[in-house]
Amino acid sequence: MSESLETMNPYEGFKLLRDHAPVSQLEADGPWQVARHADVNAILRDHVTFSSDVSMQPEEKRGAPSMLFSDPPVHHRLRRLVSVAFKPSQIQTQEAQIRLRCNDLLDAIPVNTEVDLVKALAAPLPVMVIAEMLGVEDGDMATFKAWSDEIFSNIGEILFGTPSAESERAALEMNAYFLQRINTIRANPKSHLLGQLVATETEDGKLDDEELLSFCRLLLIAGNETTTGLITASARIFHENPHTLLALKQRPDLAAIFVEEALRFYSPFSATVRRTTKDVELAGQKIPAGELVVPLIASANRDEQVFTDPDTFKLDREANPHLAMGFGIHFCLGAHLARLEGKIVAEEMARRYSSVTLTNPKTATVGDLGGPKELMVVVA
Ligand code: HEM
Repeated sequence: MSESLETMNPYEGFKLLRDHAPVSQLEADGPWQVARHADVNAILRDHVTFSSDVSMQPEEKRGAPSMLFSDPPVHHRLRRLVSVAFKPSQIQTQEAQIRLRCNDLLDAIPVNTEVDLVKALAAPLPVMVIAEMLGVEDGDMATFKAWSDEIFSNIGEILFGTPSAESERAALEMNAYFLQRINTIRANPKSHLLGQLVATETEDGKLDDEELLSFCRLLLIAGNETTTGLITASARIFHENPHTLLALKQRPDLAAIFVEEALRFYSPFSATVRRTTKDVELAGQKIPAGELVVPLIASANRDEQVFTDPDTFKLDREANPHLAMGFGIHFCLGAHLARLEGKIVAEEMARRYSSVTLTNPKTATVGDLGGPKELMVVVA
């Protein structure tokens, strides 16, 4: 099965798994893939049996823990300290600035001309938003993006193997940059996210320098490529279902529903990973303690047991219990922000354009974290 799975549309592969091998290993000793909604949900909700502490790096090489890869009580402490800055009311204050950035980027896209939407909009917008939250100054944006790309492209090695010299250098340079900014903020408080985090003090204490740096890195890893993926997914949906673009043009209030269905349909965070803390049985399959388990979020979101016509994009879908933002204690901290960015992009594209055409739809691969690295489009 492995050969055909590699060459086929990933959604066909996911369906085969759901039907015939819902909990399976592609290779002996490899991680266990979990394909059905019920099982993916069961894993995400049970952080005691399915730990997020998956790193293979020795303790001394790991640095400060990040909330995404830690379990309670460490996870709860880190999440409590930063969650206030991600509340809907806080995120909403960024709407005007995000819309301005989005429109600046869209203004630079010529109509009736082929452009790479990843370069023109989908990659820079989320980086600008996070950079602004962290108080990165405009002149430092390009360097910040380069560090972010380098660190993200090596995430597998950073967790499970030996990070490349380039990604270690990028991480060190970025740490030095933020350490200097943290020290400046301590002397001269700021109201942006990093300023708030430096100042935050709760019964859980304060975030120390290492924890602040680790959080900056986490935002890059968790927030950039995923939001890029949501934007490319939206363009792809406009191409494949032109009526959705026209519907949004007439009814901009449908943008939030459009984003939910886009998250389900082309889930940008297509899979995550856990490690079993004890022997466990899932869909009749025994998994020993200490094994890596990969909940296939993108597959769960196409599960016909949960979604009617799962392979159809429906703006009028009623119940949409997708798992694109996770579930349980690690539910996406940036969900409000990502949804706001996705909504603004959908609204602004629908306001401006009558068609969004992919000129090479084959390159729009699905299933990878973050989606395609290039998406050639013509807007009109
Ligand atoms: C469409 C865009 C996004 C998607 C699809 C997405 C998806 C996810 C998912 C599935 C998880 C849970 C992972 C797991 O349980 O292993 C997660 C966690 C997280 N996300 Fe997002 N995310 C998006 C955007 C963002 C943004 C914009 C930010 C911040 C700026 C962000 C920050 C985080 C953080 C910090 C976590 C870890 C939360 C925890 O461990 O408690 N995400 N995200």
